[in-house]
Amino acid sequence: MNVYDSERIVELLAPQGFAETADIAEADVVVLNTCHIREKAAEKVYSDLGRIREVKERRKRDGRDTIVTVAGCVAQAEGEEIVRREPSVDVVVGPQSYHGLPALLARARSANAPVVETAFPEQGKFAALPERAGSGAPAAFLTVQEGCDKFCTFCVVPYTRGAEYSRSIADVEAEARRLASRGVRELTLLGQNVNAYHGAGPDGRAWSLADLIARLAQIDGIERLRYTTSHPRDMSDDLIAAHRDEPKLMPYLHLPIQAGSDRILAAMNRKHTRAEYLALIGRMRAVRPDIALSTDVIVGFPGETDADFELTLAVLEEVGFAQAYAFKYSPRPGTPAAGLDRQLPDEVKDSRLQYVLAAVERSQTAFNSACVGRVVPVLLERPGRHPGQLIGRSPYMQAVHLTAPPSLCGHVVDVEIVAAGVNSLTGKLISAA
Ligand code: 5AD
Ligand code: SF4
Repeated sequence: MNVYDSERIVELLAPQGFAETADIAEADVVVLNTCHIREKAAEKVYSDLGRIREVKERRKRDGRDTIVTVAGCVAQAEGEEIVRREPSVDVVVGPQSYHGLPALLARARSANAPVVETAFPEQGKFAALPERAGSGAPAAFLTVQEGCDKFCTFCVVPYTRGAEYSRSIADVEAEARRLASRGVRELTLLGQNVNAYHGAGPDGRAWSLADLIARLAQIDGIERLRYTTSHPRDMSDDLIAAHRDEPKLMPYLHLPIQAGSDRILAAMNRKHTRAEYLALIGRMRAVRPDIALSTDVIVGFPGETDADFELTLAVLEEVGFAQAYAFKYSPRPGTPAAGLDRQLPDEVKDSRLQYVLAAVERSQTAFNSACVGRVVPVLLERPGRHPGQLIGRSPYMQAVHLTAPPSLCGHVVDVEIVAAGVNSLTGKLISAA
């Protein structure tokens, strides 16, 4: 979602005369769009800010001003504290108020004092943002839902992104049509709890994510739809059925399980058991046998025993995920789990993480290897590292490298998979579908 927000920030500042630069020494405005999900991400902000301060001072000696902005969830969570720790910061702006950036930059310039804006304004951010321009890439993100009401005990999202909110069907559809007209072929619908989507429909009723998907599938030019991230509790019957009935909905589902032990799942307030999760996986595979499943796992949650951890490993083994992301538990300020007894030492978390990563590598490799010899449609997205090479995505979200003319970028082509690695596939162009 930060990638999406950053794109929108660029679009918001363009009419003010700002253009993106890859060279920070050239930047009159620096925007750090930050993540607060784990301590490592949050601490990185301060080391980056230290480097940015040096650039700012150098530019100052050359007579050029730099406005340093911290946006995103660290801004939301830490507010004034950021300016105290790093006085070179001029603007702090939370994820629900970045549409005010042009005014905030102007205020910072004239006031010559830091400006902190972390309100959740009544007037929605989306209504205030300029029309989406698109980045020119054939695959784009589109935020349809923000915030979360689930309150997993380890997670800061309900506090930083706020309560669950869904954009209206009309609003999302307008943005999707606009992106399609700009050459976008694949949309990934985003939300912290995207399958809890319940946006106002044209008939005034709340429409589900499945309803939204059916609507967007009718747009000419949109060939592929995905959504992320889902909560097991919100996998509704109509959404599961959409995986059987809607050909544009890709056979891929990211569904975090977080842990394999019911005791830990309960302590996490996940609102589902291991058996319920596995039953859901069974239903997904029944409607779409080839579906690629992906998950998130946390190791070292407070009180996690070796026996609990074994259950996480076993569930990874049992499902055979096509992709999985593993994290060491990181205590986050203000969350219930951070205050629990029996926090585990880093060595234990580290060692458990290694086991999980090895299991993930095995199942990813197995899933990828099973694709060798098959012909799959690939959306070609961008040039690869080698001359003549393009990189695209399979329906299962795998990166596919192949030799193809650059003119095919933005097209879905048939590709025979000839080799597989842990993280990508190599293919041979069969035909432009
Ligand atoms: N520590 C470790 N991982 C976390 N996640 C969320 N909060 C924490 C935390 N405090 C992970 C979850 C979530 C993913 C986006 O980040 O697995 O699904
Ligand atoms: Fe965080 Fe996801 Fe749980 Fe919401 S459902 S609290 S975003 S982990």
